[in-house]
Amino acid sequence: TCVCCPAVISSSAGTVQHRKIHHAVIPKGKGGRSSSSGIAATVFGATGFLGRYVVNRLGRIGSQVVIPHRCDQYDLMYLRPMGDLGQIIFMEWDARDKESIKRAIAHSNVVINLVGREWETRNYRYEDVFVKIPQEIAKAARQAGIEKFIHMSHLNADIRSPSKYLRNKAVGETAVRDEFPDAIIMKPAELFGREDRFFNHFANMRWFGKAVPLISMGKKTVKQPVHVVDVAKAIVSAIKDPDAVGKAYALAGPNRYLLHDLVEYVYAVAHRPFVAYPLPRPLYHFIASFFEKSPFEPWTTPDKVDRFHTTDMKHPELPGLDDLGIVPSSVEQKAIEILRRHRRYRFLEADLGQTPPPKTVTF
Ligand SMILES: NC(=O)c1ccc[n+]([C@@H]2O[C@H](COP(=O)([O-])OP(=O)(O)OC[C@H]3O[C@@H](n4cnc5c(N)ncnc54)[C@H](OP(=O)(O)O)[C@@H]3O)[C@@H](O)[C@H]2O)c1
Repeated sequence: TCVCCPAVISSSAGTVQHRKIHHAVIPKGKGGRSSSSGIAATVFGATGFLGRYVVNRLGRIGSQVVIPHRCDQYDLMYLRPMGDLGQIIFMEWDARDKESIKRAIAHSNVVINLVGREWETRNYRYEDVFVKIPQEIAKAARQAGIEKFIHMSHLNADIRSPSKYLRNKAVGETAVRDEFPDAIIMKPAELFGREDRFFNHFANMRWFGKAVPLISMGKKTVKQPVHVVDVAKAIVSAIKDPDAVGKAYALAGPNRYLLHDLVEYVYAVAHRPFVAYPLPRPLYHFIASFFEKSPFEPWTTPDKVDRFHTTDMKHPELPGLDDLGIVPSSVEQKAIEILRRHRRYRFLEADLGQTPPPKTVTF
């Protein structure tokens, strides 16, 4: 057990009070970081890209956030000031240890699963990360009587997808529903933001031959990326909204673009020359399979190639960001924040000025 967690200390000292809400989470105050929102949330995968935005959004309305982690405690220090003193609680967990999952959610009323990985490792395949771990968390959440369980899936999760990542996301959605029928499933498109692996990935491609390989020049793929902050806002809104239970939300940005136009815009904002060339899928896979062998974070994988060249689905039957009261930010509004660091020193301060916005499409 984690000794820094007051809730855990009190339970280990004597009576174990399951599901009894601690007085610290009864709503009070004016709604800022030092008030109490009534939310005690366990955020699995909080150390990731989306995690930092979710924890901050929860912290700033005065929530208690339990952060199960597996990394060194110095690697999550940036999460500490996101909540009031004592409101951000860290504990170690192991996704294969059911007891550690139970311990992590024992004193919460909300559980959020952001666990994910873009590539497979020897220890964790996509089946583990997108199906088995969410299933175990959902099961533990149901048994513990958690009120709200939020699971992250993907807009293009589909059992027929060429990408194994997306196929497993589809299986994961069903597995989570089976274990926790009232789960709220979030289906975001590719996220963009400062630490993203979408715009930064394309911008970094200039290191490899100064040109960007795209299947069919990216003219057959339509993308509708969503800003990471909007997804974090959606998660917090869904926690507050009593009508959200049991729903799936399709979270996409306000505009659709051809992948080619989007990458062209990324280079225009970064003040870098954009040269694209068409690369056939089998050859792209062959090259990506070398990167996949990297023992560190692989720069790309054949699966990522397929995922990025999958046209974003439209889900008119599902509620979206507007149903949660969120006005999504566009690529044009936020791109500069992400891409300024890819500029040469000479252009670092230059404003967007004449950079034409990317063409939008309706199909
Ligand atoms: N990024 C996108 O564009 C995008 C788009 C649609 C959906 N999503 C989904 O949204 C969720 C969050 O995305 P993200 O971009 O924030 O992901 P991320 O940056 O890769 O973070 C993933 C988190 O999951 C944890 N994790 C991964 N494998 C684990 C394991 N085996 N055991 C324990 N923890 C593990 C990581 O912990 P460590 O830090 O210890 O590795 C990290 O905290 C994911 O489910 C992702 O699939 C993302």
